[in-house]
Amino acid sequence: MNIYTSGAYMARNATWHVEDSPWKAEQVRTMLGRHGIVPRTLCEVGCGAGEVLVRLGETFPAARLQGFEVSQQALALARTRTRDGLTFTGADAFASGLHFDVALALDVMEHVEDYIAFARRMRPLAEHKIFHVPLDMNALAVARGWPIAHAREKVGHLHYFSKETALATLAQADHEIVDWAYTATALETPGAVRNAKAALLNVARRGLYALRPDAAAALLGGYSLLVLTR
Ligand SMILES: C[S@@+](CC[C@H](N)C(=O)[O-])C[C@H]1O[C@@H](n2cnc3c(N)ncnc32)[C@H](O)[C@@H]1O
Repeated sequence: MNIYTSGAYMARNATWHVEDSPWKAEQVRTMLGRHGIVPRTLCEVGCGAGEVLVRLGETFPAARLQGFEVSQQALALARTRTRDGLTFTGADAFASGLHFDVALALDVMEHVEDYIAFARRMRPLAEHKIFHVPLDMNALAVARGWPIAHAREKVGHLHYFSKETALATLAQADHEIVDWAYTATALETPGAVRNAKAALLNVARRGLYALRPDAAAALLGGYSLLVLTR
């Protein structure tokens, strides 16, 4: 955890990914909508700068929203977003004794040393949980080498998931998988397409995904997994 508390993560990721927050909130909204879930209480564990919760607050104005964050630097960013019905804390979500309708862990599981214990502790925190997990373990990333090294060095990924290992992890951590969907991180998040090579790769991803989504994610990468559990 120390890169998050020492300031090292902030030095490498100054915005704490807020530019991706509207897109992430949209993925969560779509998944909740698909199941008719309208949360009255919702929390995010590892909420970063808190912008995903701001966006979800616009969709669910009657809901009480709570962000939990271990990094003081991120928490300072998040606290500037405090408003009616939306609060942020550095407290341990799992020791809070609180229970929510929905708990989110978006791009967090791959950062946590003991990720199975983390997933298991998420289970009783809410009736429904949503995990967003980058699928770093794909053939192209393994063959090229640098994407995984980059994910480790720049954004602190300690674990590299495929669709199968992400779902198996959650099942092993006592979650009932209700639904899952791929999200097109490399194709849709702002700033993902940095050069012509990345744009060309996305053409291949899009084409293969239209025919064989599993093959596109497993071979070419660029996708994450959004999982709804109970
Ligand atoms: C990639 S950021 C994601 C932030 C936010 N969820 C989002 O999607 O914009 C990963 C977050 O996980 C948090 N984190 C790292 N280790 C953690 C742990 N052991 N327990 C809880 N959160 C952790 C970090 O502080 C960081 O805010």
